[in-house]
Amino acid sequence: MSEKNSPSERQSLHGQWSSRLAFILAVSGSAVGLGNIWKFPYITGVNGGGAFVLVYLLCIVAIGLPIMISEIMLGRRGRRNPITSMELLGREETGSGTWKFVGVIGLVAGFLILSYYSVIAGWTLNYFILSSKGTFTGLMAPDVNQVFENLNQSFSTQLIFHTIFMAVTILIIAKGIRQGLERVVVILMPALFFILIVLLFYAISQGNISEGFTFMFKPDFTKIDGSSVLAAMGHAFFTLSLGMGCVVAYGAYLPKQESIFKTTYAIIICDTLIALVAGLVVFSIVFDNNLDPSQIAGAGLIFKTLPLAFGQMPSGVFFGSIFFILLGFAALTSAISLLEPSVAWMIERKNLSRGLSAIIMGSIIWALGLFTVLSGNELSDFTFWKGTLFDNIDHLTSNILLPTSGLLFTVFAGWFMSKKSSSDELDINRKFQYKFWRFLARYIAPIGVLVIFLNAIGLF
Ligand code: TRP
Repeated sequence: MSEKNSPSERQSLHGQWSSRLAFILAVSGSAVGLGNIWKFPYITGVNGGGAFVLVYLLCIVAIGLPIMISEIMLGRRGRRNPITSMELLGREETGSGTWKFVGVIGLVAGFLILSYYSVIAGWTLNYFILSSKGTFTGLMAPDVNQVFENLNQSFSTQLIFHTIFMAVTILIIAKGIRQGLERVVVILMPALFFILIVLLFYAISQGNISEGFTFMFKPDFTKIDGSSVLAAMGHAFFTLSLGMGCVVAYGAYLPKQESIFKTTYAIIICDTLIALVAGLVVFSIVFDNNLDPSQIAGAGLIFKTLPLAFGQMPSGVFFGSIFFILLGFAALTSAISLLEPSVAWMIERKNLSRGLSAIIMGSIIWALGLFTVLSGNELSDFTFWKGTLFDNIDHLTSNILLPTSGLLFTVFAGWFMSKKSSSDELDINRKFQYKFWRFLARYIAPIGVLVIFLNAIGLF
């Protein structure tokens, strides 16, 4: 079917986005999530602040930007799930379908990421309930800390919320692209941003914003080493949803006439801004409460700090509950994008219905999530390599798998795809931006990823 048409006329099998805005919102919905609000402050804390943030920002521009453009372009040209798109394009451009393995690495990464992502999203649901009951009103740091420890140590509470979150994700995917995806994103993203701004005002008026600011933006290069640089790069992939093929999958539904460049800029600016605001807020609270960032840093960071602000501010019960439920929704729009590619692949390749595919894939991921649930309690002493099972899954996916497949996506787009094909997708009349993309995609991004990899394993 597809082989008969020219690549630029190929159609998606799942319809298209109703507008460019719908696509921007969906990709931002995928990009903005726990990565920005939970993970960014947490790993910034672990890696000592300013210098890490600076490397992260550099990675966003020099590596994330060209790879995002490459992935959207590959999706729009392939018009299939990431694996099939890569197979198809590999054949067209190089005569070999082996490129589909790039999509396969991404699929594996997505599976593993969603397994722990859903557990953390479960924490936010739990915090929604706790906040709405007024649990945090007037609490001091040690008590707030204890609330988090109780959750982390409870297998059953985490299991319940992880299960709820996964079930909702499966349901939305089962209902299909249009109805499922588009509607959720349009309302919730701006709402979440609004609450962040409220928190920022709180941080400015009540928190220790100056010390928070210094911690986040004053680089101290003695605090970072090869592995923090790797973590900064890994997070650039994670936060922009790159490497896994999410963006390839969404690009497949993008109408031909839309500009990929503009869309990408909008998404990256929005994603980075949210992360920076979240980080500022969190660290203003950390310093305001005389907490030590290196002590409190860890996967519980936002759960140990934000409730302090909500517990003290006027209408904190209201803002706190809205914040955590919105964060849950932001996680949901990201989770949807983590599940969609593998479900699309199953529908197209195994000929199963959307509903059944969503249930099968979702259940496997749910089961994998139990490893993360257990990492805080029964298996908390079971550590190897980078730490607990959760730490290892996170490290393997964010810092190894995503950069590897992201690297291959961009090497394919920059080196193996003909100039004719890529310029056909990326608007021929945007010569400068096209050249700039191609330079970053061919040289800067691949060399950057390789150098950071080699540096992290100590080769130089
Ligand atoms: N970017 C999302 C976040 O920051 C998480 C996410 C969604 C993701 N899809 C992805 C991460 C694909 C890596 C790959 O919360």
